[in-house]
Amino acid sequence: MPARLAVLISGNGSNLQAILDAIRMRVLDAEVVVVVSNRKAAYGLERAAKAGVPTRYHPLKPYRDAERSREEYDADLAQIVKEFSPDYVILVGWMHIFTNQFLRHFPYRVINLHPALPGKFPGAHAIEDAFAAFTRGEIKGTGVMVHLVPDEQVDRGPVLLTGDVPIYPTDTLETLRNRIQQTEHKVLVQAIARLIEGDE
Ligand code: GAR
Repeated sequence: MPARLAVLISGNGSNLQAILDAIRMRVLDAEVVVVVSNRKAAYGLERAAKAGVPTRYHPLKPYRDAERSREEYDADLAQIVKEFSPDYVILVGWMHIFTNQFLRHFPYRVINLHPALPGKFPGAHAIEDAFAAFTRGEIKGTGVMVHLVPDEQVDRGPVLLTGDVPIYPTDTLETLRNRIQQTEHKVLVQAIARLIEGDE
């Protein structure tokens, strides 16, 4: 049985595309059962629709406006995702931090992709932070990681796979970003493939 993947995005969705392509090429024995975005304009929603994958839009703003808590937002998100009975929930650029109101529904089934190596540059600006550290002579390279999300910590958890990314003196932020994203697409697909194979 193909593994059922719920993919949570906030933006471009290039990593979602890498998953969809790997499924189409039969590199991954999986099915994306739903794509959820917290941003309506996320291009990833179009990628999902093109692939015939159901999409859901779940914005935080109405909760903030109604002074409803992040826990309530997360509990509702969990219900949306649970409807599709996923084996794994894959975070690719989902720019919200989770509370246990979401995580408790999917223990050891939430996987995050982050554009830095374990313990380095957590948060939403990892690529910018690595580039600045390189410019200051503090690092020679960076990388990407795929890890489990067991709790509420940001960009931390048991590491499933990493990939190294060199930085060159001729790099701009954009060339570095491109190299990191190319690596992410491969490492993410490989990590999911390993998880799925481990479950068989
Ligand atoms: C990816 O680079 C992912 O690693 C990053 O968001 C990007 C989404 O790109 N996630 C984080 O920074 C998590 N802290 P995409 O929408 O093109 O897949």
